[in-house]
Amino acid sequence: MRPYAFVAALLVFVALSAGAQEIKIGGIGPVTGEAATFGVSTKNGMTLAVEEWNAKGGVLGKKIKLVFADDKGDPAEGATVYTKLIQQDKVVALVGTVMSKVTLAGAPIAQAAKVPMISPTSTNEKVTQVGDYIFRACFIDPFQGTVGAKFAYNDLKARTAACIFDVGNDYTKGLSENFQKAFLALGGKVVAYEAHPTGTTDFKAQLTKIIQAKPDVIYCSDYYNDDALIATQARELGYTGPFVGGDGWDSADLVKIGGAAVENCFFTNHYAPDATTPAVLTFVKNYKARFKTSDAPDALAALGYDAMYIMLDAIKRAGKADGVKIKEALAKTDLAVVSGQVKFDANRNPIKAAAIIEIKGGKQVYRTTVNP
Ligand code: PHE
Repeated sequence: MRPYAFVAALLVFVALSAGAQEIKIGGIGPVTGEAATFGVSTKNGMTLAVEEWNAKGGVLGKKIKLVFADDKGDPAEGATVYTKLIQQDKVVALVGTVMSKVTLAGAPIAQAAKVPMISPTSTNEKVTQVGDYIFRACFIDPFQGTVGAKFAYNDLKARTAACIFDVGNDYTKGLSENFQKAFLALGGKVVAYEAHPTGTTDFKAQLTKIIQAKPDVIYCSDYYNDDALIATQARELGYTGPFVGGDGWDSADLVKIGGAAVENCFFTNHYAPDATTPAVLTFVKNYKARFKTSDAPDALAALGYDAMYIMLDAIKRAGKADGVKIKEALAKTDLAVVSGQVKFDANRNPIKAAAIIEIKGGKQVYRTTVNP
């Protein structure tokens, strides 16, 4: 054998035997695009979880390798990276993705390939309906919308509400529908219901109609970048009342973009970083140290971490890196994670509490917890 051929053969051998010592998990999130803070936090959370497991020896006697892909917050890109992770990287399981509209594009691909998948944060009801390989680590929007409506009606004493949402986004559209239904059931009135197209930066036409209808509260179910602009423009048009929204408000960039306009705003979320349970305290401390930041991790980081834990715990109990076995083990999950105790119902959704967060003095302040 010529020397270079020998070296090449040796390299292939080394690469193959290294691969056999690893378990590859695909991670997906929007690290760039419309809501980039979501992806960065999620990736950090997943990374921390994998490092903690690897420090204790990995799973099934092998090191865990996180193969992370950026879906850019775009459904078409999402479909591409799901396919790549499954076909090229041959991951045994998937943790992702973040936004419901992108997860809805990826989940059918995972389901068809029988690769177990858990979305950390996609709250739209349809996500887990895709099939028996699809799980999530978060509550769903019918619950989240109801919690928002009850908070507006009971705590803020609102009797009239207006909704504004992105018509091209399954999550924001669905969440406003859920809020509306619950607010009406409580005896409230929805006096304006305004859709805007995806990518809008000028919301004045919708907001003018809303403000003319004089709602006690505006329910805004968008992501943080739109929420901040909507609040700013509503204040410019003279609206001084409260906003209520969903988990899409959660970003350190919300206050950076919205400033004073996002004061007197409330949103439902998956965890509160200033909660004092031991699990939250440990996670916040380890996260800050690992990523050298003084900012507390947001819910995306917590759920990225939790979703990875749930998946690795299932792989461990499955005893084998096999799709069928892992999804069966996932279904039997009963695990305490940062955002609460996780057990799945028959639709592979966990039953979890929601936190209500208030923006006060430019900070996210925990207000209360609402149980299902
Ligand atoms: N729930 C949102 C969705 O389904 C994603 C999200 C979760 C955003 C948590 C922020 C915080 O699209």
